[in-house]
Amino acid sequence: MASADIAEFLFPRKVVRRAGASAEVGALLSAQGVRSGSVFIVADRFVHESGMTSALIAGLHEAGFETRVFSGIVGEPNLDMVQEAAASAAAVQAVAVIGMGGGSALDTAKLVSYQTVSGASLRELKGPVPFLANLPALVMIPTTTGTGAEATKVAMFAVDGAKRAVLSAQFVPDIAVLDADLVADLPPAVLAATALDALSHAIESMMSTTSNELTWHFSGEAARRIFAQLPRAFDGDREARSDLLYASFLAGVSLNAGVTLGHSMSYILAARHHLAHGVGCALALPFALAYNQLMPAEEADDIARLVLDRPDATLRELAEDVQRLTAAVGIPTDLTGFGAEDESSTLGPAVARDYPRPTNPVALEPERLALLFSHLRTGDLAGAWTAMGVPA
Ligand SMILES: NC(=O)c1ccc[n+]([C@@H]2O[C@H](COP(=O)([O-])OP(=O)(O)OC[C@H]3O[C@@H](n4cnc5c(N)ncnc54)[C@H](O)[C@@H]3O)[C@@H](O)[C@H]2O)c1
Ligand SMILES: [Fe+2]
Repeated sequence: MASADIAEFLFPRKVVRRAGASAEVGALLSAQGVRSGSVFIVADRFVHESGMTSALIAGLHEAGFETRVFSGIVGEPNLDMVQEAAASAAAVQAVAVIGMGGGSALDTAKLVSYQTVSGASLRELKGPVPFLANLPALVMIPTTTGTGAEATKVAMFAVDGAKRAVLSAQFVPDIAVLDADLVADLPPAVLAATALDALSHAIESMMSTTSNELTWHFSGEAARRIFAQLPRAFDGDREARSDLLYASFLAGVSLNAGVTLGHSMSYILAARHHLAHGVGCALALPFALAYNQLMPAEEADDIARLVLDRPDATLRELAEDVQRLTAAVGIPTDLTGFGAEDESSTLGPAVARDYPRPTNPVALEPERLALLFSHLRTGDLAGAWTAMGVPA
């Protein structure tokens, strides 16, 4: 059972879930007492160019705000991209910063908002950062069904090719807007990859030693909905897509307990093979479960029962179900399509060295991780389960 102690639980100040709600953001900001002035919008380029920001901008103008749009978010954010966005924001005394897009745009908006007041150089931002007074109001409007960044204290960006996390409770927005209209036409491949990222947040955070009963509640609800809705959403069902958007938000809430081994593996895989974040997460998750099977048995059983909603469910069945769901939505479950070379002996140690996880329930050991990757390479979950079932 999850810990009854709660050291911290973070949640946006206001959550609005309604189709078309992005048009209401101007009114919502006014209602929260944000004085009129300039609003800085950080938008994914495709999202902006395809007109998805139009209702947001019109609503802001109607409420008396001026707007400045930065739409240079193409791919996942790196130092240059965030620096450019922050420079553009510096020219505006923004009363609010809005992120609209996938996790890439939302994370950039968080960093831009922080940099409007922080004197630190972006390159120095890493891990927990100091609280700052007088930050602009922060609004997050996701257009993918994955990161849950609209609920998290995390902002990710790459510096010199390596992904890093910046952490602040102030990144949990004042307003999170879940507008299902924005995911109605999300390409199925992006929908699938991002939903599996959300599933990873839900399940990995349950394994974190800093999770608690409250985060488990959000994890369980999110994971059950993703299993139930992803196949229908993948086929275009609008209601199922709306539900996935909600589930990814719930998973974001639980992610504040921290993700574990799966995300460390995914960063290494994504950097090595240029994979979308969610694809790396989906590949890693069943194998991270295999590695973590030696966690306290009662807790492992509780995770499986909560997610699969069956009293006799096991962690291994959960891993197998994740792998089946991944294959069903056309995402690879092995590395055979990424070149013939076996890189397991370097990937394993890289995970332990570059992305250590003190909150993972089982210690990260380079040699065991190399062995784990050798099974992931061919998608051999049964072999991984046997190999990882023996304590070091
Ligand atoms: N802050 C957090 O808590 C957190 C959590 C997990 C991941 N992340 C980070 O988020 C980033 C990934 O975010 P993502 O997976 O949402 O992908 P993304 O933001 O990179 O977007 C992926 C692609 O989808 C397109 N897209 C977005 N919305 C669309 C729509 N409605 N219709 C059509 N196309 C659309 C984008 O143009 C882009 O090509 C990574 O950098 C990852 O590390 C952050
Ligand atoms: Fe993620």
